[in-house]
Amino acid sequence: MTEYSDEYKPLRIILVGYMGAGKTTVGRALSKALNIPFYDLDWYIESRMRKTVKQIFDEKGENGFRLIEQSMLHEVAEFENVIISCGGGTPCFFDNMEYMNGQAETVYLKAETDVLYKHLLMGKSIRPLLLNKTPDEVNLFIRKQLEHREPFYAKAKHVLDVSLMDSYDKIQISVTHLLELLKLEASESQKLNS
Ligand code: S3P
Repeated sequence: MTEYSDEYKPLRIILVGYMGAGKTTVGRALSKALNIPFYDLDWYIESRMRKTVKQIFDEKGENGFRLIEQSMLHEVAEFENVIISCGGGTPCFFDNMEYMNGQAETVYLKAETDVLYKHLLMGKSIRPLLLNKTPDEVNLFIRKQLEHREPFYAKAKHVLDVSLMDSYDKIQISVTHLLELLKLEASESQKLNS
């Protein structure tokens, strides 16, 4: 972990939460508000490895993916003045959650199970863990997996409820709440970019 002097501390915000919670949506909106870059860990992995997450799962299995994910996390979490959204499983393997807490302001984007289910039925085909599952199986899978994952997500420094984020206005309201939680203002970007 990089040590910084008292005067200089880069801003890093890492968003964690279950698949379908809206990490990418919030990450993008927050990036606009603060005028700092946004990295989605899955996209970063795909561009660095030149393979889709699904291809990596197919070729190396979940264990292989988790090793790559950890190593890519250690790359992006060194970037300064960035917002990062990680995969739903990232906090739940190795010491990833402790590592992220050491590097960044971590935020758990928490959504109700029914909301996750609705979002995930739409995006099921691109998520290897949900592929080939019937809607009922997806529902059961989410409930079981959340029970296991929640204690990892709960280690984040902040929690934001994002269950009601179903319109542009509500996304903006979530971003405003998030800025309040982090004690940041949209104008903070002026300082970061000067
Ligand atoms: C996963 C979530 C995915 C992706 C991979 C595994 C998980 O990311 O990293 O399919 O274990 O929950 P999203 O949360 O962005 O869908």
